[in-house]
Order: sequence, then C-alpha cells, then structure tokens
Amino acid sequence: MKIFLLRIFYKHFEKDKKRAIIALKGCYFTAISMKDLSNLRKEYAQAQLTADSLEESPFSQFQKWFDQALKATILEPNAMVLSTVDIHNTPTQRTVLLKYFNPPGFVFFTNYTSRKAQHLATNPSASLLFPWYALERQVIVTGKVERIPVEESKAYFFSRPYGSQLGAWVSKQSSVIDSRQVLENRLSELKQQFLEGEVPFPDFWGGYRLVPESMEFWQGGVNRLHDRILYKRVESAWILSRLSP
Ligand SMILES: Cc1cc2nc3c(=O)[nH]c(=O)nc-3n(C[C@H](O)[C@H](O)[C@H](O)COP(=O)(O)O)c2cc1C
Repeated sequence: MKIFLLRIFYKHFEKDKKRAIIALKGCYFTAISMKDLSNLRKEYAQAQLTADSLEESPFSQFQKWFDQALKATILEPNAMVLSTVDIHNTPTQRTVLLKYFNPPGFVFFTNYTSRKAQHLATNPSASLLFPWYALERQVIVTGKVERIPVEESKAYFFSRPYGSQLGAWVSKQSSVIDSRQVLENRLSELKQQFLEGEVPFPDFWGGYRLVPESMEFWQGGVNRLHDRILYKRVESAWILSRLSP
C-alpha cells in the first residue's frame, strides 16, 4: 500500500508538486474508506426458508412475513421501493407506502400526474421491493400496475387525516418549484378554502394496484447461502422454485 502511494506521488511530483499532493490525498482517503466498507460484514443467521415452512400462495407467505415485520417493530414495515421505467427504458426507483394487499395485488396511492404515473402510463410493468434488513429479508414483487377504481381511491382519501388530504391538493408532484414557500403559501390558501371534513376528492390523485406475476422471498443465510424462493404465476396457479443465492 505504502509503495503504491509513493509511486503515485513520484509520478505526479515530476510534473507538478501541488497536483502530486492532491493525488496522494485522494488515494489515501479512497483507500481508508474502502477498507472501512470492506470490513462491514454480517453473518445472516436469523432464520431459514424451508420447503415445509412455505405457504402455497405467495399472498399468504407475504402476509406471514408482513405480520412478522410488524411484530419486529421495524421502521416503516409497509415502505416499499417502486421501480418503473420511462419511455426510453431508463429505470427510476422511489419509496411508496403499501396501503393494503389482497389476492388481486398490492395498493399504493400517489399523484396521477407524477413522474411515476407518467412512466406507468407508457409502461405498466413495475417492481416492488420490501427491504426488511432487520429481519435479514427482502421481498421482490414484479407485475403490471393498474389504476384502482375511483370509488376505491375515494374511500381511502376520505379516511385520511385533514393534513394529508390537503397535502394531496398542495403538491403537483414531481414538477419543478421555485422554493418551499410556494408549498407553504398554497397550504395556507387551501386551509382557508376547505375546512376540516370538507376537503373534496382531487381527481388527479388515487391508487394503483400492482398485480403480481412473480414474488421472490429472500432470507439471508450463513456463509452467504441465502434462501431464495420464487413464486411465478402460470395462468391461475403459482409455481414455486428455489433460486441459487
Ligand atoms: C418512507 C417514504 C414513504 C413515501 N410514501 C409515498 C407514497 O405513499 N406515495 C407517494 O406518492 N410518494 C411517497 N413517497 C415519496 C416518493 O418516494 C417520491 O419522492 C414521490 O412519490 C415522487 O416520485 P416520482 O417523482 O418518481 O413520481 C415516500 C417517500 C418515503 C421516503
């Protein structure tokens, strides 16, 4: 390591002393931080995913793991990373909250003019990832996303607290704004306009349902021999397979 740094120093020193010192500092800090990162290692030994412990339906398996995530009081157990692609197939990911799930699929709510909504309008294929690291688990769901019926979105919207209802009206999600003040001003206006219990339903906002085509359950294992169980939908049945870690 020392010899490597000295070589770099002399290579640059011949040309320019200042650049040589900058190069040396850069190498040193990169080496230090890489060393620290490469030492971050944890054995995953909390559980195993065995054939006899698996549910036949991936929804039942998800319910089981979701209940365990709730019980483990991990931060935001219903937070999931939604991936979509734009018209050029460039992917984007962002966190959204799962609001409910049942055999048709997984439901989240958002603004129908947002970037994600634009992506989904051109390509409804998407994936969800639940990062339950505290349990040494992740679940990846892939499938097609569709808008839920307006009545279903309304039912959820009117169950939200006043502040969240106004929040849906304030934000032209994903558009560029001049400052935070724009949002604060708009919120004040809306508070004058709509009293609590009188906020109308915004027709540019609602739910999406991802209907799964596959669901992968990942459980960390000792010596990196992780368990990966894939449920794949084939017509109306679910076919299970084990993937190599
Ligand atoms: C923990 C967490 C929960 C979030 N939940 C939602 C949500 O349920 N719906 C939503 O539209 N955005 C949610 N967001 C914000 C999104 O990550 C994202 O910034 C926003 O939806 C705009 O994404 P887009 O520009 O790709 O459309 C959440 C962010 C975090 C960190």
